[in-house]
Amino acid sequence: MELPETLRLAIEDVAERQPRQALERAATSLSAAYRAERGAQSVRAVDSLAAIAAYAVTRLPATFAALTAALTEARERRPAWEPRTLLDAGAGPGVTAWAAEAVWPSLRQATLLERDQRMMTLGTELLAASPPGALEVSWRQVDISSSWGKPTPPPADLVTCAYALNETPEARRADLIARLWAATEPATGALALVAPGTPAGFAIIRLARDQLIAAGAHILAPCPHERACPMPPGDWCHMAQRLARSRLHRQLKGGAAPFEDEKFSYVIAARQPGTPIAARVIRRPVTYSGRVILDLCGPRGLERREITRSQRTAFRAARDARWGSAWPLAIGDEPDASDEDGPSQD
Ligand SMILES: C[S@@+](CC[C@H](N)C(=O)[O-])C[C@H]1O[C@@H](n2cnc3c(N)ncnc32)[C@H](O)[C@@H]1O
Repeated sequence: MELPETLRLAIEDVAERQPRQALERAATSLSAAYRAERGAQSVRAVDSLAAIAAYAVTRLPATFAALTAALTEARERRPAWEPRTLLDAGAGPGVTAWAAEAVWPSLRQATLLERDQRMMTLGTELLAASPPGALEVSWRQVDISSSWGKPTPPPADLVTCAYALNETPEARRADLIARLWAATEPATGALALVAPGTPAGFAIIRLARDQLIAAGAHILAPCPHERACPMPPGDWCHMAQRLARSRLHRQLKGGAAPFEDEKFSYVIAARQPGTPIAARVIRRPVTYSGRVILDLCGPRGLERREITRSQRTAFRAARDARWGSAWPLAIGDEPDASDEDGPSQD
């Protein structure tokens, strides 16, 4: 996955205005903060424009990739839904606006809530240089852990909170999630929550999922059911999205790899159910000659399936399966060789 070209160039413009050494130092301390799971709070703590620019180069593409991947899975389950309004809480530089507009070009108006003035300034500049389609964007500087500010924004078709719940004090999270859900349009709205793909990030998403189901929400993605989450202690449900690293990104990260895999946990809850899926692929499929091993989450819980070449239909589906994608065949009902006609062509 790649950033829109105009956005990538706008980020490079921002970065080029910073002294190179300050940018490199900021990128190094940001990486260390993310490894220690302090996230963008460190951007807040480091009072420098270089830290914001380093965030734009090294983190913005990753959150864009994760958001786009998560929202795309929700769209698959509600293909006829055409949201027009977006409310994004903890917007940072407005990444959700680009990702959501790429997934739903029907979006027309976005309200972005953010407390850090420097993030808002960065976002305003990037949005001016690389407008996301026909989306009209307005910002509001507010602390989302206590309110949305006045006047209360009208309910939005799509409400999002990405990589910000983990920066909200634990004691405030349930209230924030309740307010995010209440901010969705009552007939057809949806709420997307994304967090780092770590045990701590997943724990936040799992609690949010329980809370939303108790409030009457339907889960669009990733879960194929609304039963208790079957993930055992010590394990965590997360997905990975591969994204291209720009040259500047590679230089600041001091790595040669032209890509990275962003790990994320998420849940998308909606007022209306989506078309059902049989199961979700919850790890990277492992492919051997003539067989594919899939780890699936389905209505019976977590299951490992081995699909062999002789199961022609299932084998084709298994070769197309990606970590995070929906699995189309009912688990346990994949036809075996004796149910299929003729020899395999694969
Ligand atoms: C890691 S950034 C993520 C930005 C964006 N949502 C994304 O996914 O790219 C988290 C953002 O949430 C903002 N944030 C965290 N807690 C907040 C709060 N209580 N009120 C408003 N903004 C907050 C931070 O200032 C930061 O810009």
